[in-house]
Amino acid sequence: MARGKKIYEGKAKILFEGPEPGTIVQYFKDDATAFNAEKKDVIDGKGVLNNRLSEYFMTGLTQIGVPTHFLKRLNMREQLVRSCEIIPLEVIVRNFAAGTMSKRLGIEEGTQLPRPIVEYCYKDDSLGDPLVSEEHIAAFGWASQQDMDDILGLALRVNDFMSGVMFGVGIKLIDFKIEIGRVYEGDFQRLVVADEISPDSCRLWDIETNQKLDKDVFRRDLGSLTDAYAEVARRLGVLPKTGGHPKPTLVN
Ligand code: TYD
Repeated sequence: MARGKKIYEGKAKILFEGPEPGTIVQYFKDDATAFNAEKKDVIDGKGVLNNRLSEYFMTGLTQIGVPTHFLKRLNMREQLVRSCEIIPLEVIVRNFAAGTMSKRLGIEEGTQLPRPIVEYCYKDDSLGDPLVSEEHIAAFGWASQQDMDDILGLALRVNDFMSGVMFGVGIKLIDFKIEIGRVYEGDFQRLVVADEISPDSCRLWDIETNQKLDKDVFRRDLGSLTDAYAEVARRLGVLPKTGGHPKPTLVN
C-alpha cells in the first residue's frame, strides 16, 4: 500500500498518514528502549511480534465492545488505525505490585494488590512521565471529569479482558499501560483505546514459574526478548506452536 507522509517517529513506532482521511498507518520498529531511553537496542523481530500481538488484543477488545482505534493489520509491521487526539496520560493498571510501585511504596514485587489500582502519569519524556493525581489532570485541563470516568471504565474493562486472556494461557497480568485517544464523529466525541497493547507495555509472568515474558527481560538483561515475546504469541496461538524466531515466512 502506498504510504503517506511521516507524521511522527516515537521510540517503538513510526506513524504515517493513512490512505483515507482520518486514518494513520502505525509501523512497528525493532527498537527497544528503557529507563526513558537511557538503555537502547535493536531487537530483531520485536516489531513483527508487537504488531501481531497488538492486533490480537485490540481485535478481542473490539469484539467484546471496548472501542479501540484499531482498523486492520496491513502487513508484517504495519497496521491501519483511526487517527485520534491522544490524551497526554499513561494510564496504568496494576494487579500485583512491581516496578515503580514496588520502589515507591516498598512492596515486594509480585505481591497481589487488594484490588486493581489505576495510576496516571503525565506523558512527557523530558520530565520522565511523572505520576500525577486526578487533581493535576483536572486543574491543568488534560481531561474532563467525564473523560476521567470513561477512562477509568475503559482501563478496568481492558484489565478484565487482558487478565482473563492471559490467565487462559498460564500467564499472570501483573500490570500494563494504555493510552486513550479522542475521536470525533460529527458533533460527538468518544474515547477509544489507542497506541498499542503488547509485552512492551505490560508485565507478564508465567503463573507456575514467575518467569518474566515482557520488557523487563530487556530492562533487566534476563535473556532474549524476542524469545519471551514469541512465547506469549505462541501460547495465544498468534504464532505457530513450533519454530524459533518470527521469520517473515513463519508468520501468515
Ligand atoms: P511502572 O512500574 O510505573 O514503570 P517502569 O516500567 O518504568 O518500572 O510501569 C507500570 C507498567 O506500565 C509496566 O508494565 C510498564 C508500563 N509503562 C509503559 O509501558 N510506559 C510508560 O511510560 C509507563 C510509565 C509505564
